[in-house]
Parts: sequence; structure tokens; C-alpha cells
Amino acid sequence: MIIAFRCAVCGSSVDVDQPASWTCPSASVDDPFHLLEPVDDGSVDEVDRGETNPLIRYRRRSAWWAFARANGMSDADTVRLAASVGGAFRITPFGRHERISAALGVDVWAKDETNSVAGSHKARHLIGIMLHLRAAEELGLINSRPPLAISSCGNAALAAATIAASQRWPINVFVPTWMDPAFGSGLDALGAEVNRCERTSDAGDPAMSAFRRAVADGAVPFSVQGPANGWCLDTGRTIGWEIADALPADGLGSMYVQIGGGAFATCLGAGLGSSVPLVAVQAEGCAPFAAAMERADSMDEPERHWSEVMVPWSEPGSLADGILDDETYDWIGVRRAVLSSGGHCVVARESSIVAAAELVASTGPPTSPTGTAGLAGLMEDLTTGRCPSGPAAVVLSGVAR
Ligand SMILES: Cc1ncc(COP(=O)(O)O)c(C=O)c1O
Ligand SMILES: [Zn+2]
Repeated sequence: MIIAFRCAVCGSSVDVDQPASWTCPSASVDDPFHLLEPVDDGSVDEVDRGETNPLIRYRRRSAWWAFARANGMSDADTVRLAASVGGAFRITPFGRHERISAALGVDVWAKDETNSVAGSHKARHLIGIMLHLRAAEELGLINSRPPLAISSCGNAALAAATIAASQRWPINVFVPTWMDPAFGSGLDALGAEVNRCERTSDAGDPAMSAFRRAVADGAVPFSVQGPANGWCLDTGRTIGWEIADALPADGLGSMYVQIGGGAFATCLGAGLGSSVPLVAVQAEGCAPFAAAMERADSMDEPERHWSEVMVPWSEPGSLADGILDDETYDWIGVRRAVLSSGGHCVVARESSIVAAAELVASTGPPTSPTGTAGLAGLMEDLTTGRCPSGPAAVVLSGVAR
């Protein structure tokens, strides 16, 4: 059972019954380098095997459930809440992908997130924050609805706006001015307030700065980055639990996962556990995590030297445009998952990113180049002989748009 959130950097801890405990109490504008992670005491691990909604199936492993229970909600009411707030979530398909396996000459298993809520895995991260908010509201722990805030112009924004709309909760989406107008219209149609942020003389991403200002003014960080909201690392783990419960008979030899901000791989690794080597894949046009891994290798307690370890990538570029985060915000969780599972990092050439996208375009399901980027890492490793033996797994993490 989750009992608390603890900061991986400074060790500060917050009990799980605390409402709106999004960030480390020691974090500040001047020192944002903190990361709250759920702490499991190992006491309750019951899974409802017959249940196909992962939020209900794995609720007893989840922080939102522990939060609700610790504040007096009955288990039956947590089930009702999950069915009403996250009723559209289903365990997503995971199986041997015959045509990719045939094309590559190795056993490839694929987890298909393309038909998931809002067409990608991103909603998994955000639904835990919403379950926390709705539980807090029902329990009388909050008595107003502060707006949600997110900085994104991709799958995360769409997932956030979709979940907010389903609960009629106000949301501000901060986007760069160059965002595709059609995408903006989609967010508008969901009732989100879209804020286009001009670049100013200040350094850094203007949408991110506007997001931080909104949070400082009381908005909920409805973020898919652990340092901005540790609660996104809660239900995000469902993807790893689902894979762990559906492994091939002889297990997996490797799990390839694309790294942008890194919350995805953090959660997948935490849910799947350390028995499957986790391979962290980045594109050659944006590989800050691989560089950070090398720097961290030569340091004691690299968590305490965040800004020396995680150096932003200048001028990111790739066809896989959803993993162009110049920083891997969740590098601590990804690094732990890679090291504890005996995995490694691979930097895929752009030609492999393109080849993976083309391969899946010809086999299905319709997947974006970001969604096939993990496969690009596998293809890269097959050319260098670095792929561990045994079936390799990938996540087709987002639909082609
Ligand atoms: C489809 C898809 N896959 C993978 C990722 C990477 O996830 P993360 O940023 O948590 O590393 C993203 C991020 O935008 C995405 O949209
Ligand atoms: Zn801290």
C-alpha cells in the first residue's frame, strides 16, 4: 500500500493522506530540483483479476486509493469513484506482433496504446491526479475547483483537456505560438482555455514559464512531469502492471521504451519491476538522458547534482516530435529503472526513427513516429547486436494523427 510520497533528492516525506501534495515541500522557484515519488510499504498487493478497468483492478496499489481510504472513503466508494471518473479506461492489448516480428526476424511484443483514452498513454498519468482531486472534493477536503494547468501542445494536452472536460473541471493549457491551429481548435472544442505564449526576452520555454506562474497563483499542476506533480507517477504505473500480468510464457528479454520527459519510462519500469531489462530509447536529435546517464556514472549521489547531471539539449529535432523535451525531467526514475533491471540506453539514428515509423505504417496499428520510437531503438540494437536475447517488447504509445 502507498503510505507516503518521498523526495528522491532531499528525502522530505509527505503522508499519503495529505490533499494537493503535488511537489516536495522543500522545492521552490529557485530550487525546483526535487521529485516526490510514491512509497509502497508492501503491505497490500491484492489485484482484482476479473476487472478490466486498470484503475479498479490495481486500485490497492495506487496512491489515489490510499489517499481516499486514509481519509475515510470506503473501498466500495473508491470503486464507484474510479468507474465514474475513469470509466473509459480499459486494459490495453499486449501480444506478439506477427508482422513486425516477421519483418525483423525476432519476437516482438507490442503494447497498443493507440485506442486508449485520448489516443495515447498520457491519460494514464493524469487520471490519478483527477482521482485524487475528486476524492478530496467528495471527502470535503477541498471546497473549490482551482483551475488545472498544463504546458503541452501534444498528446498530454489532449489527454488533460479530455479528462478535465469529462469532469467539467476548468483547465488552462499553455502552448507555444507555433502550435498547429487545428490542434488548438480541438482543445477549444473540449472547453479548455488555450493560452498562446509568446517568446520573451527571458530564457527558457515561454509556455513552461506561464504554466509555473499559473501554479504559483494556485492552479493545480496537471502535469505529466514528476517534478511538477509527483502524483502523475501513480496511475502511470498501470501500464507496467498490465504488461507484467500478460508476459509471454518464457518471459521477456527486453522492454524498449521511448524517453521524452521520462515519466512514461519511470512508471513503466516501476510497474513492470526489475526482472525485464529496460532499454531507454532517445533519438540522436535529442538525447539528453543518455548524456546524463554517463555523467551520473562518475558521481556519488547524482540526484543531489541535478543541474550538473541533466543538461538541457540545445536545438532538439526529430520526426519523433513528442520526445523532443530538451530535459528528461524524470531522469532519476528512468535511471533507477534502467540500472536496477540491467538495461541500457540507446540513441537511435534518425534513419532508424524513420524506418520504425514506416514499418508500423505498413503493419498497423496507425501509430505516430513518437509512438514507434521505442521500436526504432530495438531496430538500432539489432544492427549492433546489443539486443538482449528473448522476446523484445515495445509500446506503440500514441495514435497517428
Ligand atoms: C505518444 C508518446 N509516447 C511517448 C512519449 C514520451 O513520454 P515521456 O515524455 O513521459 O517520456 C510521449 C510524450 O509526449 C508521447 O506523446
Ligand atoms: Zn525534495
